[in-house]
Amino acid sequence: MCGIIGYTGNKDVTEMLLDTLEMLEYRGYDSAGIAVSDTDGKIRIVKCAGRVKELRHLFGSSQINGNSGMGHTRWATHGGVTDQNAHPHRYGHITLIHNGIIENYRELKEKYQLQDMLNSETDTEIVAGVINHFYNGDPLDAIRKSVVKLKGTFALVIMFDDFPDTIFAIRNVSPIVVSSSNEGNVLASDVAAVCQFSKEYFVLPELHTIVMNRECVLLYDLSGECVEPDILTADWELGQNGKGGFPFYMEKEIMEQPEVIQKTIEGRIVNGLPFFSKDEVTDEILKECNRICVVACGTAMHAGLVGQVLAQSVLGIHMDVELASEFMYADPVIDDQTLVIAISQSGETIDTLEALKYAKRAGAKTLSIINVRGASIARESDYVIYTYAGPEVAVASTKAYTTQLSVLYLLTARMALVRGVLNEGEVRTFISELQRTPEMVDQVLQKRDQIHKMARRVLDARDTFMIGRGLDYSILLEGSLKLKEISYIHSEAYASGELKHGTIALITDKTPVVAMVTQSRLKDKEMSNIREVCSRGAKVMLFTRESFQISGMDEWSEVFELPDMQDLFMVLPASVALQLFAYYVSADKGYDVDKPRNLAKVVTVE
Ligand code: G6P
Repeated sequence: MCGIIGYTGNKDVTEMLLDTLEMLEYRGYDSAGIAVSDTDGKIRIVKCAGRVKELRHLFGSSQINGNSGMGHTRWATHGGVTDQNAHPHRYGHITLIHNGIIENYRELKEKYQLQDMLNSETDTEIVAGVINHFYNGDPLDAIRKSVVKLKGTFALVIMFDDFPDTIFAIRNVSPIVVSSSNEGNVLASDVAAVCQFSKEYFVLPELHTIVMNRECVLLYDLSGECVEPDILTADWELGQNGKGGFPFYMEKEIMEQPEVIQKTIEGRIVNGLPFFSKDEVTDEILKECNRICVVACGTAMHAGLVGQVLAQSVLGIHMDVELASEFMYADPVIDDQTLVIAISQSGETIDTLEALKYAKRAGAKTLSIINVRGASIARESDYVIYTYAGPEVAVASTKAYTTQLSVLYLLTARMALVRGVLNEGEVRTFISELQRTPEMVDQVLQKRDQIHKMARRVLDARDTFMIGRGLDYSILLEGSLKLKEISYIHSEAYASGELKHGTIALITDKTPVVAMVTQSRLKDKEMSNIREVCSRGAKVMLFTRESFQISGMDEWSEVFELPDMQDLFMVLPASVALQLFAYYVSADKGYDVDKPRNLAKVVTVE
C-alpha cells in the first residue's frame, strides 16, 4: 500500500513525480504529496487529501524547479484522510515518506518527547522525529540508529535539509526497487515505476540503506559496509497506450484476457504436454508431496479454490485453500511432504508473504504463482511460476486471475502426468481443451453487450445473491467479490443447496439473483434451487452454457449462454462473463471503476 517514488537526475522533478504518482495511484489514493529540493537547495513540500489530480491543481501553471525529490500516494492507516496527515512529513531537519505501519509509534513518541512538534496523527511523523533525534550531521548514522528502534514494516524515503539533492531510503518488508539510467536515478515501491527509466533494477535488500544522488547510487548494510546490488531485468512493457481507448483500465484488462492466457500457457506446452522446465520447477516437488495447501488473499484466493477442485477431482490429492491472513493462526498441519502454493498478482501482499515464510519454517516446499517478476513472495519461494498478464492497473483483478487459473490447469496436468494419474493421451486431451480457452473467452467478450443489458437489471439493487454449486459456486465467490468491490452493492455468493437452511429468508422481489449453471452433473439440482428463489419473487439472471438448452427461458429475467467447454474448463469463460457484469454495473452507476473506495491494489499491511 502507498505508492512511493524518489528521483534525482536531469529531469524537471515536479512533473516527473506527479506523472509517476498518477501511475502509482492504484496503491492508495486517499492523499498525495511531494517534496522537492528547489534551486536554492531548500526542501519544499506540497501535499493534500485527495487524488493526484487535486495535488496537480495546487501547482496551477507554476512548478517548483528542481531535480531531486520524492512523492507519495497514501492509503490511510494511522490518522484520517486530511491534508496534515498526507505525506511527506517533516520534523526538524528531516523530510520523510513511508509505506507500512510502525507498531510502537506511541512508545517512540514518549521516549523521544516528540509530541510538542507534531503536526499530524501519523506514525510516519514520529519516525521523522526519531531520525531527527539521532541526527548530528551524519544521515547514515541517524538512519541506522533509528531503524533499530522501529517495530513494524516500513519503506522509508528520507531527505535531509543538509543534503537536499541526495535521497536516502531503507526498508523492512515493504518493498523498494531502485534503478539507474542516463536520465537519473530512481527508486519506487513498484517495478512499473522504475521501468520508465530502465529495465535493469534491483530490489533494496531489507535493512540496507540506499544513498542516491545525480551521480551515483550506493548501497550500505546496517554495519556501514558498501555492498553490490543484485541486478534484475524487468521483462514486461509498460502499456504505452494507457487505457488503449477504453474508458477504464479494467475494461482494457478484461479485453486483454485471450492474449495473456495464451501467452501464459503457450511456452509451457511442448508437443501437447505441459512442461515447467523453463520455470525450473522440478517434477520431484510435484511428485513427492502428499498434500497441497494454497495461501492467498482476495481474488488470488478464489483462483486457489478452483485449483482445489482440479487437484481433488483430477489428481485425487488433498488440497486446502487458506486465507493467508488466517493461515498461521489456525495451527495448520504442514510438514516436509506438503507443497505450499502462494498465489499473488503483486507478489507483495504481506499476509501471503508471512504465511509463506511460516510454511517454510514448518518445513514445507514452497511454490509461488506471481505476476510481478522479482517480487518479495517470488524471492522467498523455493520455486516460482510467473503469469504473463502484464501490468494490471485496475484495483479489481481480472487478467491476473485468469492467468493464475491457466497456470493451475497446467500444474494439474503436469502433476497428473508425473504422478501417473493420467496417461500421456489423457493429459494431451486435457491440454488441448485448455488451449481452446483464449478462443472461448473471446467469444464471451464478443457478446459483451448482452451482459451489459443484464447488468442494468441490478443497478438499483441494495443486495444481490449469486447462487450455484460445485465449481459454479467457486466462480461466483469471485464474481460476487468483483461486484461488491467496484459497485458497492452488497452481494453474497451462496452454495445454492444451502439457501434453504436459512438464507432464503432474505430472498424477495427486491433481491436480484445471479445464477450460474455450467456443470453437467449439478445442472438439475441447480435448476431446482433456482426455481426455489423464483418462487420467492426473485428476478434471476442466468449464466449457463449453450448446450444445456435450458427450457422455460421466459421464467428468467435474462439468460446468457456461455460457449461450451468440458465442465472443468467452463470456469474461464464464466469468470470473464461475471467480470464484465460487475464492470458494467460500476461504470453505469458512474463510479471510478479503477479506483474503488477504501481499496488499494497492493496490500502491504497486515
Ligand atoms: C488486494 C486487491 C485484490 C487482490 C488482493 C490480493 O486486496 O485489491 O484485487 O486480489 O489484494 O493481491 P495479490 O497481489 O496478492 O494477488
